[in-house]
Amino acid sequence: MTKVLGIIGGGQLGMMIAESAKNMPEYISKIIVIDPTENCPASQVGAEQIIADFKDKKAIIDLAEKSDIITYEIESGDSDVLKSVEKNAEINPSPDTLKIIQDKYLQKTFLSENNISVPDFIKIESFEDVKEGLRRFGYPALLKARRDAYDGRGNFKINSEEEVQKAFDYFKGQKLLLEKFVPFKMEVSVIASRNTKGQIKAYPLVENIHEENILRQTIAPARVSKEVIEKAENIANNTMEVLKGAGVFGIEMFVTKDDNIVINEIAPRVHNSGHHTLQSSKTSQFEQHLRAILGLELGETTLIRPTIMYNILGSKSFNGKYIPITISESDVYLKMYGKEISKPSRKLGHVNIVSNENETIDELLKKVESIKDKVITKPIE
Ligand SMILES: Nc1ncnc2c1ncn2[C@@H]1O[C@H](COP(=O)(O)OP(=O)(O)O)[C@@H](O)[C@H]1O
Ligand SMILES: [Mg+2]
Repeated sequence: MTKVLGIIGGGQLGMMIAESAKNMPEYISKIIVIDPTENCPASQVGAEQIIADFKDKKAIIDLAEKSDIITYEIESGDSDVLKSVEKNAEINPSPDTLKIIQDKYLQKTFLSENNISVPDFIKIESFEDVKEGLRRFGYPALLKARRDAYDGRGNFKINSEEEVQKAFDYFKGQKLLLEKFVPFKMEVSVIASRNTKGQIKAYPLVENIHEENILRQTIAPARVSKEVIEKAENIANNTMEVLKGAGVFGIEMFVTKDDNIVINEIAPRVHNSGHHTLQSSKTSQFEQHLRAILGLELGETTLIRPTIMYNILGSKSFNGKYIPITISESDVYLKMYGKEISKPSRKLGHVNIVSNENETIDELLKKVESIKDKVITKPIE
């Protein structure tokens, strides 16, 4: 029997999940998303849209009544409401897992209780707590919003005593944690998945380069030693063992100067650093997520062709409609998300630069340089 799939969030991740779902008509008959933005990316590829906030109780109840299975592309959904509608629809990853992950403090507490390394952190409830934390961790340190953060928008790096008050004021009223700064050598991630029957499978380790807290490019595979790969993959596995629920998880990690691995954070969903799988692997992370929540055998995760994913971010210089981006080069795959308006650093699309026969990562990096100026947004008019 085919199922109706409900997705909390209809941005680019929801869009690419929906596209994969449409390729599985024998399992999924219809896709419905909740998203506050009219004509959201997922609705442009055939998903029905409920226009509402991700936390809108009535909308979530409505979605659960209309869907057989529910998943999410964003971790800010209301986990308590989701839990209350579990009798109407199967929800994966489970609302209990979502509740832990969507709060960076609960998430880090959970990981450290399960002996998985994370940067040192403390809960912040007052200005005095911040000062106490800084005495312990020293400078720099990161003050972070516990919830609803993305693309670095919930982080404030405190470099010196003069910045403490400014950092605290920046988050007015929000729940916070303070984290020790990790002078990492590299950021890496593992896209791991578990299906409803307990099968676990992960994609190879990739390297992530951020600019101003936003993912700029992902290099698959990561340029690290076998030992580092093994450590990271073990940690990813241990993490999957303790985290309940089916679906794809994006596990972000730091490689420290002495080649140890600490987890930065986990996303209970498909992840920007997994977009390369659309071309580099037999099974994309989006199909894998659906296979996981549908209880199907998980797909092949071998990296068939080294690939660099380069994010197309809105230019800093303007807000507004932009000249459509096109690119026609062999082995370069452009994916735009159908967002009409460019805003500074907004994720508008990505390109996957795929290795043909024997191109090395260095050669792919040069190719990225040569196409950068073709994927800059420019205002119309
Ligand atoms: N403890 C830390 N030490 C050093 N850099 C950090 C630390 N925490 C975060 N960062 C940097 O900031 C980026 C965004 O932080 P993250 O907590 O992942 O926020 P978001 O939820 O916005 O992705 C990370 O990818 C990393 O580059
Ligand atoms: Mg992050």
